[in-house]
Amino acid sequence: MTHFKEIGLSNTREMFRKAMEGGYAVPAYNFNNLEQLQAIVTGCLESRSPLILQISKGARKYANQILLRYMAEGAMEIVNSAEHPIPVALHLDHGDSYELAVSCIETGFSSVMIDGSAHSYEDNVALTSKVVEYAHKYDVSVEGELGVLAGIEDEVSHEKSHYTDPDDVEDFVKKTGVDSLAISIGTSHGAYKFKVKPGESPPPLRFDILEEIERRIPGFPIVLHGASSVLPAYVDLINKYGGQLEGAVGVSEDQLRRAAKSAVCKINIDSDGRLVVTAVVRKMLAEDPKNFDPRKYLGPAREELIQMIVRKNREVLGSADRG
Ligand code: G3H
Ligand code: 13P
Ligand code: ZN
Repeated sequence: MTHFKEIGLSNTREMFRKAMEGGYAVPAYNFNNLEQLQAIVTGCLESRSPLILQISKGARKYANQILLRYMAEGAMEIVNSAEHPIPVALHLDHGDSYELAVSCIETGFSSVMIDGSAHSYEDNVALTSKVVEYAHKYDVSVEGELGVLAGIEDEVSHEKSHYTDPDDVEDFVKKTGVDSLAISIGTSHGAYKFKVKPGESPPPLRFDILEEIERRIPGFPIVLHGASSVLPAYVDLINKYGGQLEGAVGVSEDQLRRAAKSAVCKINIDSDGRLVVTAVVRKMLAEDPKNFDPRKYLGPAREELIQMIVRKNREVLGSADRG
């Protein structure tokens, strides 16, 4: 067993307390490879933002769970020897079983999500409580989920979203003992979050539901999944250089700014990072067909990802200079 403190990680408790008090949200960025990890850590150090580094079940399968875990430990050496270190949590994204959560906790994760949203309410409560009981023995924080996001949640596909029912939240939080709660208020995973006609704006998020949830569990940290903005500049670059992402739409930055000022303390971003990397790699390879050195197309992608992260932390989430 490696305890997260041995690696210099933090759980999310203090991060969320400060975010709630300061009216901002902590970014949770997913990584699957070296360049993404480097960009996330560099971008958050540069903007002095607290950071939640997320690893999904799919990421563990793709990159090898042992390798990812040691990459995170290596990143912590860099963070903690920086001139201004920032608090970092290593978080399991969309954990779907007790065993997976335990395996992550035993290898040094400081935070886990147990996503029981595909189960019945009672089974979600039972599974989440079991994970909380184990996690809290080691001071690891736990994120639960109520409500269903449209789109793909890891391997569980949901055709339709079900907004979180505010009537359930107080009971769920009390029965399970979770430290934060992911809710469904109109966001979804991936690059196609809303169906809109050209020139039309996507519908607003259901802030009325969020406000009712805040009224039921005052001061409790809320998590927003599926919160990428699907920035048009990168979608356009992808399409210009041979991609086909027509109609890709995300959550507007104004909606995210509003959410970040509320009880939403953690905002999950994966697709935006994927889009940046794909856009730059497509451009580099199209402009220089003789380039066959991955450092010469992944390096520029990493640079652009750093800039995207710095800007998001500074101008959207408000987490810059809070680390
Ligand atoms: O919410 C899902 C995350 O974007 C992780 O996606 O399962 O493809 O790694 P993934
Ligand atoms: P996006 O697909 O909007 O980036 O959402 C990521 C996410 O919720 C990870 O859990
Ligand atoms: Zn998610």
